Amino acid sequence: MSQQLTFVILSAGMESFRELRAALATQEGARVLVGGDDAEQVYPEIERLAPNAVVIALGAEPEASLRFVERLAREFPRTAVICAARDSSPDTILRSIRAGAREFLRLPVRPEEFATVYQRTAEFCAVQPETPKKRGRVISVFSSKGGTGTTFVATNVAAAISQPTVLLDLNLQAGDLGLFLGVEPKFSIADLVENRERVDDTLLRSYLTPHTSNLSLLAAPREADSADDIEAEHVFQVLEILRERFEYVVVDPQHTFDSITLAALDQSDEILLVLTLDIPAIRSTQRALQIFDRLGYPRHKLHVVVNRFSKQIDLDLRQVERFLGERVAGYVQSDYRTAVNSINLGQPLVTSEPQSKIATELRQIAARFCGGVQPAPAEPRRRGLGSFFKKEKAVNSQLSAAS
Ligand SMILES: Nc1ncnc2c1ncn2[C@@H]1O[C@H](COP(=O)(O)OP(=O)(O)OP(=O)(O)O)[C@@H](O)[C@H]1O
Ligand SMILES: [Mg+2]
Repeated sequence: MSQQLTFVILSAGMESFRELRAALATQEGARVLVGGDDAEQVYPEIERLAPNAVVIALGAEPEASLRFVERLAREFPRTAVICAARDSSPDTILRSIRAGAREFLRLPVRPEEFATVYQRTAEFCAVQPETPKKRGRVISVFSSKGGTGTTFVATNVAAAISQPTVLLDLNLQAGDLGLFLGVEPKFSIADLVENRERVDDTLLRSYLTPHTSNLSLLAAPREADSADDIEAEHVFQVLEILRERFEYVVVDPQHTFDSITLAALDQSDEILLVLTLDIPAIRSTQRALQIFDRLGYPRHKLHVVVNRFSKQIDLDLRQVERFLGERVAGYVQSDYRTAVNSINLGQPLVTSEPQSKIATELRQIAARFCGGVQPAPAEPRRRGLGSFFKKEKAVNSQLSAAS
């Protein structure tokens, strides 16, 4: 049987798409997983499906497509990128190869040439090491300044995701994510680090604290002493273990650039940079962006999120964006009462008050960066006296858990 090869096709024009799909259909073992005309929409599919090859049809203005080729070649070196174009001038071929394409196909497709390119792609794929089973996405919710609401945002983003997710508390000395989720962790990251060499699914599950069927917590150590034994390399290993078993790992790191935090940020696919609209927080975010630039983090993994947003704040948002050199990717309204009540109850807002404005905004952020999210129920929950007593009881039990 011939080698199975999976393909994704990106083509601005329908004609090229059909041509390429028809050509691939002639090859035994070739399977087109998905096709599209928008690189930003196709990218997450490539990440998720890890195809053997991506065929990109270049249009009349190939610059954006060639930048996408570069990105794919850099981020997915085991995937063969094939450029196809009607313009087969030496300049276009050279630019494609320089951008990182392994092969160039002239359009319209010539069957013999196609067969050769297909054969060479198969040879390239045959020598690539096997792709790991799963590679969940790591999303860090970071601020270089305390108190901007990173833990609140991280908790809600994680709770909004509709796929298996783990929330990782990297405030190793004083993590309190258990309180935000209303759970009492018995084990922590320290236990996982200690047993990392022999961890299997069952052992890992025993170290996690479930919150819902989709969301679990890997808590910070209860004793500050055991946090001292955790090193950056351990965080790296822990994230590898988690991302092999979960679709998403949402990290709540410290507000410094220490080696533990950097280990997590280095490994993050997305970093939500949370700030509030006050000058110290804006300055601190600007410095963080400069540090990330120096560290070589691509800007596409950094997303500025304004928390505690209010129209009453006398600051021109465009000016803030210019100062940061980065667009604001998401907003969360300021609503102290609602936010603090959900924290005191130990219930993420996206599940306890799903109809509230902040919950909607938090779900939008989760949807933008983490794909599938839980839908909000159609009907708002009724609030009677019974629910007041239930809340009072929940707050009291949270207080006794915290003491
Ligand atoms: N959108 C919001 N509107 C109003 N208050 C908010 C909002 N988001 C967070 N807060 C409040 O801000 C406070 C700090 O939130 P949180 O603990 O999440 O911040 P943090 O950045 O994690 O702080 P720390 O420095 O403790 O890590 C909490 O009291 C919370 O209720
Ligand atoms: Mg915090």
